[in-house]
Amino acid sequence: MRNLNKEYWDDKYAQNTTGWDIGYVSTPLKEYIDQLKDKNSKILIPGAGNGHEVEYLFKKGFTNIYVIDIALQPLQNLKARIPSFPDNHLIHMDFFDLTISDFDLILEQTFFCALDPSLREAYAMKMHGLLGPNGKLSGLLFDFPLTEDGPPFGGSVAEYRSIFSQYFTIKVLEPAYNSIKPRKDNELFFIFEK
Ligand SMILES: C[S@@+](CC[C@H](N)C(=O)[O-])C[C@H]1O[C@@H](n2cnc3c(N)ncnc32)[C@H](O)[C@@H]1O
Repeated sequence: MRNLNKEYWDDKYAQNTTGWDIGYVSTPLKEYIDQLKDKNSKILIPGAGNGHEVEYLFKKGFTNIYVIDIALQPLQNLKARIPSFPDNHLIHMDFFDLTISDFDLILEQTFFCALDPSLREAYAMKMHGLLGPNGKLSGLLFDFPLTEDGPPFGGSVAEYRSIFSQYFTIKVLEPAYNSIKPRKDNELFFIFEK
């Protein structure tokens, strides 16, 4: 197994080998964001990379978005695209070290699958700790078999249910009907509530 540390991710951005980056907000996240009502919700995007959903949220008028990534370059890219995005909401840190909490919503897309699978339990526990009362962890998880190959690392409804139901009420966990073409039939949309 590779050591998926800061150097690994920095190198991906330096070499421009960022095949996960679709260059725009994905349809499932866009449609989910479009039905959110409270523009003051405290929202976290972990492992945001170039953060196309962050840009989408910000331009829609969401005022309290936090972005965290272990690699610096994508945070700089985001700042260059949205100069008015507050610097203190762009956090260059390991997600597991984040101490800001009380989020209303955390949006997941290709961050969970980028972590070593041994961290899955820790991810669920950390997410639970970062959310405020009734907070939600929502977004997309891959639906293909978990093997040694990755990232991205796969998983199944059964595995996700067994990990996340220890910490959350599983409101939705089902095949995404509106995936982008390359991810069609390979991703699950979910809403987990604290
Ligand atoms: C596969 S990329 C996905 C980026 C973005 N979510 C997207 O959909 O384009 C995974 C991202 O997670 C970041 N990352 C990996 N491990 C991390 C950690 N422990 N803490 C914070 N960010 C991390 C990487 O730097 C990378 O930007």
